[in-house]
Amino acid sequence: MMDRAEVFEVGPRDGLQNEKAQISTRDKIALVDCLSGAGFKRIEVASFVSPKWVPQMADSAEVLAGIARRDGVSYAALTPNMRGFEGAVAAKADEIAIFGSASEGFSQANINCSIAESLARFASVAEAARGANIPVRGYVSCVVECPYDGATAPASVARVVAQLLAMGCYEVSLGDTIGRGTPEAVDSMLSAVLEVADARHLAGHFHDTSGRALENVTVALERGLRVFDGAVGGLGGCPYAPGAAGNVASEALARHLAALGYETGLNMDVLAEAAAMAHRMRGDSHV
Ligand code: HMG
Ligand code: MG
Repeated sequence: MMDRAEVFEVGPRDGLQNEKAQISTRDKIALVDCLSGAGFKRIEVASFVSPKWVPQMADSAEVLAGIARRDGVSYAALTPNMRGFEGAVAAKADEIAIFGSASEGFSQANINCSIAESLARFASVAEAARGANIPVRGYVSCVVECPYDGATAPASVARVVAQLLAMGCYEVSLGDTIGRGTPEAVDSMLSAVLEVADARHLAGHFHDTSGRALENVTVALERGLRVFDGAVGGLGGCPYAPGAAGNVASEALARHLAALGYETGLNMDVLAEAAAMAHRMRGDSHV
């Protein structure tokens, strides 16, 4: 029997948030519904952040209201603070994500506060989520390198991971936000993180700027991780991480995992349709 690994689909959020031209709510909904048809069990579809900071995500509540919810699929939303949490609850997100950084420069650029201030905010959100019985996922950005501060010390990543887990995050996703991580750097980072966290509570989130995301996935698999974030069609980037490319493409990730002997449960034909849809939404001319 093949071992299992999961692709956590973040395309409708991480993939689209950076698009300059406003994509219609209807197209976003169609993409999410196609992705649930492809077999993803967790899909990040919304982000309750300031619309001044990320205009593309301003219709998050409408997207959550319009999708055809499939049994067994968890539809996730980013929530930077209590206001975001309240928006996500009102829109009936199944789970939320709090998103911090291992580097001060990115924390300031992305959410306008220090790491310590962000953790204090996240603690309130996590506590409210526990009260409402809503699972919380955590993110740590810049786990190997920061566009503002340079290389990130593995110990800084481990510190933030430990705090997010202590707040009750059921899983923490480790973000190579600018996609410059080498397999060696990812391995050193994981050595430090695995001292404070079990691999079952970690996910890999690799942007593919340097084309090494799949190698980094292999390193993380060897370290015991079994969940990897991907964006259909390789869409994306982060508006506050200049030069960051999209997440590793979910379809390439699924093929890579299959080649290494891991079953993802995804329907590759439907996934290819979703990838074509995502490229059309972005206006790519070759599809
Ligand atoms: P701030 O300016 O420090 O906050 O922003 P504020 O509390 O002073 O509020 C400023 C304005 O935002 C006010 O409106 C608030 O009402 C409004 P104004 O009075 O100016 O009209 N506001 C909100 N509006 C809607 N929803 C909210 C909300 N909160 C405040 N929840 C804040 C702080 C966090 C809001 C801002 O910095 C922000 O929205 N940042 C979002 C950045 C973002 O979304 N980045 C991309 C996602 S992270 C990522 O991509 C990395 C990841 O993929 C992992 C990886 O790759 O590493 C997860
Ligand atoms: Mg990301």
